[in-house]
Amino acid sequence: MSMKSKSPSETIAVSTRFVLPHETNTLGKLFGGALLAWMDEIAAVAAHRHSKRVVVTASINNVSFNVPIDLGDIVTLEAKVSRAFNSSMEVIIDVSIEDRITGAKKPSNQAIYTFVAVDQNGGPINVPEIVPETEEEKKRFDAALRRKQLSLILAGKMKPSEATELKLLFEEK
Ligand SMILES: CC(C)(COP(=O)(O)OP(=O)(O)OC[C@H]1O[C@@H](n2cnc3c(N)ncnc32)[C@H](O)[C@@H]1OP(=O)(O)O)[C@@H](O)C(=O)NCCC(=O)NCCS
Repeated sequence: MSMKSKSPSETIAVSTRFVLPHETNTLGKLFGGALLAWMDEIAAVAAHRHSKRVVVTASINNVSFNVPIDLGDIVTLEAKVSRAFNSSMEVIIDVSIEDRITGAKKPSNQAIYTFVAVDQNGGPINVPEIVPETEEEKKRFDAALRRKQLSLILAGKMKPSEATELKLLFEEK
């Protein structure tokens, strides 16, 4: 298996869907859980494109539902690996709604998922590095380490004292 580094753009996965009646609540708005599942699926494709391994969702962070999504809306999800660590990968999913008349896309929400590449026994296995290229990719890459530390602290898997990158955020400049 090649461990050659890759750029985030090589991992992009895109999915476009129509919001159907069985995915909405009684006000005709998309269920949050349906959107979570769509994001999980497309993010797994991006993580797979990067690692070429079976990937499992390790954590879901930073999900916000800022804009209600209506029945009949056309929703586009774009997933991209922002950083790879040892076996884990951070994937950012940007969701937008398409204006039904002009076709212009308006951002609706964003989520950040962590996937872990696993072997046949479900044990973590190393993945290639990600080398960011654009300014936005570089920012997301840098912030990914802080988010990993925060996620591990919240999961009780890291002591706050070990979260060196995260602590820097709180230090006075
Ligand atoms: C994800 C899983 C493989 C991690 O296994 P583990 O025994 O915790 O393994 P490790 O402690 O070695 O962690 C593996 C990687 O996951 C990362 N990780 C684990 N929990 C994490 C969390 N809550 N947030 C962010 N990263 C996490 C670790 O930092 C490590 O990353 P690295 O190898 O890049 O440094 C394991 O917990 C699992 O199989 N979970 C179920 C996954 C699943 O079924 N998902 C679908 C939901 S139904």
